[in-house]
Amino acid sequence: MTEKRENWGSRFGFLMAAAGSAVGLGNIWRFPYLTGMNGGGAFILIYLGCVALIGLCIMTAEFAVGRRSGLAAVGAYKSVSDKWSFAGALGVLSGFFIMGFYPVVGGWSMAYIAKSFTGLLAVPEAIGDVFGGFISAPVEPLVWMVIYLAINVFIVSKGVQGGIEAAGKVMMPLLYVLLAAIIFRTISLPGAGEGLKFLLAPDFSKVTGQTFLAALGQAFFSLSLGMGCMITYGSYLNKEEKLPANALIVTTMDTSVALLAAVAIFPALFAFGIEPTAGPGLVFIVLPQVFAQMGSLGPVFSALFFLLLFIAALTSSVSLLEVVVAYLIDQHRMERKKAVYITSAIMAVMCILSSLSMGAMSGFKIFGVGFFDFFDILTDKIFLAIGGGLLAIFVGFFMKKEDLKDELTNGGTVSFPAFELWYNLTKYVVPVIIAVIAISGILAIEQKSLMIFGLLIIAVLAVFSKKL
Ligand code: TRP
Repeated sequence: MTEKRENWGSRFGFLMAAAGSAVGLGNIWRFPYLTGMNGGGAFILIYLGCVALIGLCIMTAEFAVGRRSGLAAVGAYKSVSDKWSFAGALGVLSGFFIMGFYPVVGGWSMAYIAKSFTGLLAVPEAIGDVFGGFISAPVEPLVWMVIYLAINVFIVSKGVQGGIEAAGKVMMPLLYVLLAAIIFRTISLPGAGEGLKFLLAPDFSKVTGQTFLAALGQAFFSLSLGMGCMITYGSYLNKEEKLPANALIVTTMDTSVALLAAVAIFPALFAFGIEPTAGPGLVFIVLPQVFAQMGSLGPVFSALFFLLLFIAALTSSVSLLEVVVAYLIDQHRMERKKAVYITSAIMAVMCILSSLSMGAMSGFKIFGVGFFDFFDILTDKIFLAIGGGLLAIFVGFFMKKEDLKDELTNGGTVSFPAFELWYNLTKYVVPVIIAVIAISGILAIEQKSLMIFGLLIIAVLAVFSKKL
């Protein structure tokens, strides 16, 4: 390749973009409800263990693979061995599929910014019905989804520095400010102490094998791992950046936002006597009920909260789109704008199907589930964990140890004292833990035909890997 590859403009810009990718719906929408359903502090402890032991190793590995090759998902694997292209292709496909439902939820968050001011909070008892009615409507959520996707197209078509990095530098600091404002309000509510106790005092009676599975899956999803996203972002890094330090910073930022989101939400739930086990509806149904009880400032806090959710989602979906776009640019020499338009058009079709599967098309099932769940289960429960496991095996057994050391120490110019620890964990411990948890988890998926379909896709990719 002769043309110069795009690069991040500054370290801060890269960190904001990478943390922007990691911090998303996973942190603010999913982490709090998983915590609520899995025993509060106990789940948090297990989650932190998964992040520290597995997440940090894989994040470091993805950065190293990306920068070493200077290529996005497929190209990075291919540069070592043609046979491994399929692992990258699996990542690209995961990116595609996650973008088959993520923008739908992104659109909901935008809609709820507006709805905060237009009567959503007026009748607290009706908030649940309003949500159900909204997401199952045939047109309104589609309009919001298209607007949401269009913003993604705008940012990614402007490129790595001018689009993704510029957006991250503005939005991530804003996200922290919004989060601080909301915490400040909720933590000063009378009765908030109970919520903090729920988070800090672990209740191990709720912990089962499924809790570990949920925690591991959540760690991958939240840190944007297992599909070449951080490989792609790492490929735009210059050779002076210290990879292990950056991996630690991004991991810490992501984890802190998840914990802060929990701190923002649980005290409010307990203050208003609402059960923490509400599940996925937590932020769209339960939180507005809390805001509705806050009086005249309720709509303002509600709008700020959904703005926070929107910003978090946006910097994440941009990274998912970029994984597919970067693959087309690297492997098929496609022009960026063209790649963005083609990719997002297909994503829009998938999102229309996902959104309609909540209402008009709720009777239509593929492999026993609607489109929304199809894309969600396939990626979250099957592809990401397998993708992460494959990466660990690839790094541990197919890359040269000296090359990895060279990459992680910038050619020996900076020290990485934990190199041996990282290497052995990634090579021997991480794949085994992932295998145990993923295999038992995948086998436990209720929709057997979907599970077989997912595994079949991986097999087909492996067979045709050389063509990718
Ligand atoms: N991490 C994001 C979140 O928490 C979602 C996301 C973005 C993602 N890029 C990813 C998940 C890559 C898995 C892989 O919402």
